Amino acid sequence: MNDQIPLVDIEQQLANQSPFRIMKHALESHDRIAISFSGAEDVALVDMASRIRPDVEVFSLDTGRLHPETYQFIETVRNHYKINIDIISPDGDAVRQLVREKGLYSFYQDTHKECCGIRKITPLRNKLLEVDAWITGQRKDQSPGTRSDIPVIQDDQGFARAGETLTKYNPLANWSSEEVWAYIRAYEVPYNPLHDRGFISIGCEPCTRPVGPGQHEREGRWWWEEDTKKECGLHASNINP
Ligand code: ADX
Ligand code: SF4
Repeated sequence: MNDQIPLVDIEQQLANQSPFRIMKHALESHDRIAISFSGAEDVALVDMASRIRPDVEVFSLDTGRLHPETYQFIETVRNHYKINIDIISPDGDAVRQLVREKGLYSFYQDTHKECCGIRKITPLRNKLLEVDAWITGQRKDQSPGTRSDIPVIQDDQGFARAGETLTKYNPLANWSSEEVWAYIRAYEVPYNPLHDRGFISIGCEPCTRPVGPGQHEREGRWWWEEDTKKECGLHASNINP
């Protein structure tokens, strides 16, 4: 990364660029960079990266609670692009203690915070110690309550190593869901079969449901909680305290 140019200037340069150009900038600016792949329509990022840097590093946080279709899809992506995907499990002792004390569905009573903390956030924090930058599939249109202002590049102070910089790229930030799907169809990108069954946003199985016509995609996630809190902590900077 060129430390001479302030991030806000790079942001200005990239803000109106295509996702492909932003990916290119990201992958050419950092050696240690990884795509955070959820197993949903963010597969478009993997496809773009495969055209720029085919050995790109990709990781998925395996919470242990994903749909079988998502596990199978991650494997499809691995084979299709002939890439390794780092499948990251949570700490077994922490999961065991949570489930022993509170059961398998504590998030319906206690909110998703504790379970996401153990199954997603701690593993993500550990993974991000290995890189200088990461790439996500976040988009502004995914969540009017929390994502409407996300930039295409940001300084991720929440997950940076002490005294160091961690850059976070959101190349799809300005694309709509329709544009992502147009890309997936145009390039015949493999996709998660749950999308054909009414699922738009896909997370863990117990915390995700299909949405009907007229419902926003975020209504299919943690539907028992308030809209403005619907961030699991992977993108905590999206929530204003
Ligand atoms: S979440 O914070 O609500 O779970 P969302 O499902 O919208 O996130 O996905 C936004 C982006 O977060 C994805 O495109 C991906 O980059 C990252 N992400 C979400 N879940 C995972 C996961 N299980 N593994 C890796 N990255 C993930
Ligand atoms: Fe747990 Fe649900 Fe968060 Fe998955 S989304 S880690 S099951 S609370």
